[in-house]
Amino acid sequence: MVNRIPLIAGNWKMNLNISQSTALVKAIAEGIKGVSGVDVLVAPPFTNLYAVKQAIGKADIFLAAQNMHWEKEGAFTGEVSPQMLIDAGCTHVILGHSERRSLFKETDEMINSKVKAAHLTGLTPIVCIGETLAERENNWTFDVIRNQLKGSLKFFIEEGSLPKSIILAYEPVWAIGTGRTATPEQAQEIHLFIRNWIKDNFSKETADQIRILYGGSVKPDNSAALMSCPDIDGALVGGASLKPESFLGIIRF
Ligand code: PGA
Repeated sequence: MVNRIPLIAGNWKMNLNISQSTALVKAIAEGIKGVSGVDVLVAPPFTNLYAVKQAIGKADIFLAAQNMHWEKEGAFTGEVSPQMLIDAGCTHVILGHSERRSLFKETDEMINSKVKAAHLTGLTPIVCIGETLAERENNWTFDVIRNQLKGSLKFFIEEGSLPKSIILAYEPVWAIGTGRTATPEQAQEIHLFIRNWIKDNFSKETADQIRILYGGSVKPDNSAALMSCPDIDGALVGGASLKPESFLGIIRF
């Protein structure tokens, strides 16, 4: 049995200005003093990354962007490259979030290009997957998850190995920002399915080491039950990551 360190990641989405962001991360840094056995990460909007990095200072908080382009540079108005994120202080990048997939029409193919570029540039991707309510009600959940894994991780399938640093996040779309959380049983079932898929397509060793986060209305009062599931290795938190009390409440699960 491998000991996977849980990761609690805050996805701030399009919220908070620079002073709010730096105040929040300083409060988190203060609140996690003395807390061990858990990794903490924040993902502010692009424009706040550098300031948040400065505010983090020496605190044990990882910095992620919420998206990026797969090209190194060039005529891509409005886009940000992997190297730019590293320059701003990022170690991680969230890719394929359901809001990117649905609102900005990102396909598995685009997400695969981003995952590949992030990995080759030295950023750790947090790859999001998850089914919609209609897909769940039609009993398509496993097919949808399998297809998203196959499509978004195509580069690694072709390479024949998946780096154990890659992070996956299962976020049922019907649970994001809705206050409706998957029950620990529902989440565990999919997490185990994902881990078995990694075992079948890569190796048992890789499957044992990869962290799979759960996301979708995670709050201080439901985090302990979710985190106690054997295949849930942390949380990707939206709404509840915007206030120090609630984010710290989840970190202290
Ligand atoms: P939520 O968002 O916690 O507000 O549901 C989660 C996410 O979108 O990552």
